[in-house]
Amino acid sequence: MKKLEGQVVIITGGARGIGEGICKVFCNEGATVALWDVLEEGQKTADRIAKNGGKIFYQNVDVSSQESVDKAVAKVISEYGKIDVLINNAGIIRDRSILKMSREEWDQVMRVNVDSLYITAKAVVPHMKTANYGRIISASSVNAFQGAFGQTNYSASKAAIVGFTHSLCREVGKYNITVNAIAPGFIKTEMTDSMPQDVIQAGISMIPVGRIGTPEDMGHAYLFLASKEAGFISGHTLHANGGAMP
Ligand code: NAI
Repeated sequence: MKKLEGQVVIITGGARGIGEGICKVFCNEGATVALWDVLEEGQKTADRIAKNGGKIFYQNVDVSSQESVDKAVAKVISEYGKIDVLINNAGIIRDRSILKMSREEWDQVMRVNVDSLYITAKAVVPHMKTANYGRIISASSVNAFQGAFGQTNYSASKAAIVGFTHSLCREVGKYNITVNAIAPGFIKTEMTDSMPQDVIQAGISMIPVGRIGTPEDMGHAYLFLASKEAGFISGHTLHANGGAMP
């Protein structure tokens, strides 16, 4: 029996990288996936996964816009009647040291990485409450815990996700909804491919399992927290980083 058979899942930022890995793993486990992204590339990603038998469709959604999210949720509900799992994976970086960072670079990161949690929860939690079931899992980062040069905005946003998770889990636990976060370590995606080779090699040398993580590694970590069997785990941040603890 597949772990997510019959379940309806929203995966934000699913067009590429870790989000695509989560989409693949969840589709293999029988979920029906709404892939949300601002990139039209999301359509091609969904088509590729559907070709391999996945039940997946693309919706052009900006997670920093309540209007955009509300519209997409209404469509999922009218077609499938429920949302079992919400994966808040979409995120951006606008790296710059504090002396050079513009207010707009700070605000952009907060809008996409933090405001989106409020926006998606407002749209999705009422439906999970009605169904008396839900799983909400959001992407934090190892850099919320150890910091990184040029990432005051990003690290602050990813730490906010941990606080949000702790509080929301207290509010919605009585509706059989769990709320967790995942703090990925060093994962091979477009985001990390843009780093200089020597920085990538230095990063890998710090990882006890001796390799960079893959989007599919992350997909399996999300799958664990999304499963029905994880119903007694809530308010937790899972560090998925090959042992490279901050
Ligand atoms: P990525 O940049 O490859 O993918 C992020 C996706 O989110 C993109 O498809 C992008 O179009 C989408 N997105 C951006 N803004 C959006 C918006 N307003 N609305 C909807 N979609 C939007 O990033 P990656 O590496 O796959 O990371 C995924 C998540 O994991 C992010 O939240 C990131 O902060 C987090 N993370 C990644 C790590 C890594 O090593 N790659 C390490 C720790 C955390």
